[in-house]
Amino acid sequence: MLSEQNLTRIEELKKRYQSPQSVVLEALWMWQDEHGWISNDGMKYVADLLGIPHHHVYGVVTFYTMFNKQPVGRHKLEVCTNVSCMLRNSDKILSHIENRLNIKVGETTPDKRFTLVEAECLGACGYAPMLQCGDEYYENLNEAKVDRLLEELK
Ligand code: FES
Repeated sequence: MLSEQNLTRIEELKKRYQSPQSVVLEALWMWQDEHGWISNDGMKYVADLLGIPHHHVYGVVTFYTMFNKQPVGRHKLEVCTNVSCMLRNSDKILSHIENRLNIKVGETTPDKRFTLVEAECLGACGYAPMLQCGDEYYENLNEAKVDRLLEELK
């Protein structure tokens, strides 16, 4: 289920656009915001809400890495490992986080605080290496900056 507030917002958006498919990203974002991740039941709920095929919603969720297909920790660390970041040692940043949190890429810490994932280019190549956590970008990373970030997020 979605909150009454979000259901009202979706109805407003459906009126604004010709096709309910235009609302799917917003609706999925609302679902993830409320539930933390998007289960198959969540996809079906959104599809039924918008009156569109389930497979369309599934395709959207599995295409965009911003949607969590499984539960994640309170802080999802998305480390960019694309070319610019790779050339500026994103592999060391990733390894450092793995060692600090004692998890591998794709895993969540036992206390559910952190999930670590690799990301494709996040559009901050000039500030490589970088990672995204929530709505924030952390740029020009080095191991000391990562240590400070992990302390702040604890
Ligand atoms: Fe990392 Fe573009 S390659 S932000």
